[in-house]
Amino acid sequence: MKKGSPGFPFFLRKAFIPQFRLETQGNLLFRTSSHILSLAAISSTKLTIMHAAITAVAGYLPEDKLTNADLETMVDTNDEWIRSRTGIEERRILKDPNLATSDMGAEAVKELLKKRGIEAAEIDLIIVATVTADMHFPATANLIADKVGAVNSWGYDLSAACSGFIFALTTGAQFVETGRYKKVIVVGADKMSAIVDYTDRTTCILFGDGAGAVLLEPSETHGVIDHKLHVDGKGAQMLRQKAGGSLHPPTHATVDAKDHVIYQDGQPVFKAAVKGMADVSYEIMQRNNLASEDVAWLVPHQANLRIIDATQRRMGLPPEKVTINIQKYGNTTAATIPLCIRDWESKFKKGDNIILAAFGGGFTWGAVYLTWAYDTPNAD
Ligand code: UT7
Repeated sequence: MKKGSPGFPFFLRKAFIPQFRLETQGNLLFRTSSHILSLAAISSTKLTIMHAAITAVAGYLPEDKLTNADLETMVDTNDEWIRSRTGIEERRILKDPNLATSDMGAEAVKELLKKRGIEAAEIDLIIVATVTADMHFPATANLIADKVGAVNSWGYDLSAACSGFIFALTTGAQFVETGRYKKVIVVGADKMSAIVDYTDRTTCILFGDGAGAVLLEPSETHGVIDHKLHVDGKGAQMLRQKAGGSLHPPTHATVDAKDHVIYQDGQPVFKAAVKGMADVSYEIMQRNNLASEDVAWLVPHQANLRIIDATQRRMGLPPEKVTINIQKYGNTTAATIPLCIRDWESKFKKGDNIILAAFGGGFTWGAVYLTWAYDTPNAD
């Protein structure tokens, strides 16, 4: 009889124990999810769930501002329409044509390392969520690793549009939870101005450039607890970049047709975003037995104030528990959530229950539930 087969005696059977470190008298015996242990040996052991905690956050925003008044001179729009329909007042634009997404990401990572007081060589892995990679290859993560001197790190890019940061955070957390890595950096960065058509008033008013980054480290008490993530490729019909990939490689015709910029059918995307973000945020609360008073903060993707309001109402939260900076930066795609975390860091308290929620192109959406791991020194 094979070990692990149904007929094998239960107490001797091997079992997978995911996300646990197994210790006996302080000695680490097993630490990765792929290790198998005998249940017969458990009696003398202590099981510790290892979480991936955000231990630092940083961001970068270009200095140049594009205000609603500026846009009034570029397309047929007005400040009142933009504010009332989206909540946006201004955005930041990376104007220097020699700078790209990796430059903003690298600035955010350098600031992150400084804040945490660690060397770039200590980083194990860099995951970059972006839809505006500097180029198709190499990955933006490679370029950022090189720019910050992360010589012992590997990395990769992850494409999930406005949900990119929560997809990347969830992915990065796995490497910490298994015990494989001690320091994982998750970057959300987008130079949206590179793919915005500044003659299309339905999209150019929405987007801005920016980057945010968090450091994930192991914690026995706080960190990422749960996630609920979704994709629906049918959404590509309503929000996508039509050309530039292997389906429609760049040609004069694709450039003439403006197929390299953001295509969005706003209204159906709006409806899907309201439903998707509100539903998933509510579901993750229910699944973790969180009442609205248990949630300290909602950190939503910043696409449209009306989508954020709908999510907040569905969760039963008062407005003061919601992080909003859309008026200053617009929609920076993968960067919105880490930039909100950065802007609210000093208000977060150790142990706070925080829900991150996003909806994005193609479609992608989801929510992450985490507990905050630290108090900011000298916070008000
Ligand atoms: O982050 C990734 C996911 N993306 C999103 O979540 C974005 C989802 N969509 C939206 O946020 C909204 O649909 C928009 C902000 C893009 C548009 O707002 P809306 O309330 O859905 O406006 P609409 O498309 O229904 O347009 C209403 C009117 C139209 O005029 P008519 O046909 O009623 O005469 C538009 O032509 O507003 C007009 N319009 C504008 N007017 C002034 C559209 N864009 C503008 C503009 N300025 N920039």
